[in-house]
Amino acid sequence: MCGAIGVFDSGVGGLSVWREVRALLPDESTIYFADQAHIPYGPRPPVELAHYATSITNLLIELGAKIIVVACNTASGAALETLRATYPTVPFVGMEPAVKPAVEHTRSGVVGVLATPTTFEGVLFRRLVDRFGKDVTIHTQVCPGLVELVEAGHTASAETRELLAGCLAPLLDLGIDQLVLGCTHYPFASTIIADIAGPHVSIIDPAPAVARQVKRLLGAADPTNRPPPPALHAFLTSGSPTRLASQVDQLLGYECQPEGVFWRDNVLRIG
Ligand code: DGL
Repeated sequence: MCGAIGVFDSGVGGLSVWREVRALLPDESTIYFADQAHIPYGPRPPVELAHYATSITNLLIELGAKIIVVACNTASGAALETLRATYPTVPFVGMEPAVKPAVEHTRSGVVGVLATPTTFEGVLFRRLVDRFGKDVTIHTQVCPGLVELVEAGHTASAETRELLAGCLAPLLDLGIDQLVLGCTHYPFASTIIADIAGPHVSIIDPAPAVARQVKRLLGAADPTNRPPPPALHAFLTSGSPTRLASQVDQLLGYECQPEGVFWRDNVLRIG
């Protein structure tokens, strides 16, 4: 699918970015890759994630991607620098917790970030805190199990509410008024998150800003480029294609027929 926007994540989380990209750039074709054989990425070491991200990028480029959106905070923190060095002519858009807008908007001076352990340990997050954390307090919080619940479709279940209530309580007790969703799976649970956090806490999802950055980069690469209609959308998974189809339908109300991709000897192969 020549000239498509490649988007990847460990699973369905990156769909929270994909839907914004699609809404902003309706004429562009996309290829979405869910590395569901390796989910969750959150507890995995950066070097392992950099290997996965490089192989996935390689495949997306082979399939015709002209730009790669790393729709995963964890993989971005672990691999974005490696990807840019390995593919210097390919434009990449990565994710990082939206600390900057949170710091700009906080009135209490206390900001909370919800993300995976590897995101907090990564170089991107450390740089954000060094840059924006001087005059405000930034509290971090992990929520083990939330990614798995979203993957299982429990975006509004009692179990998810209980888990989130426990994870958010320490941040709320510390007086946050901004909550940054630092994992692309979390926006799918944002109704419960907003409900628990209450009206005084703003929930920040960076996905719309990421979509705008994709648009900017595409415009800068070729301002005259107009993709030929119709836009096509392909979905690939290293897990079960039928499961991904029902997940995309449940989360986005979008019907698709994903294709299976397999990791063999640490290399991705189609079919
Ligand atoms: N959705 C991903 C992120 O933004 C990764 C979740 C996971 O696999 O742990 O961090």
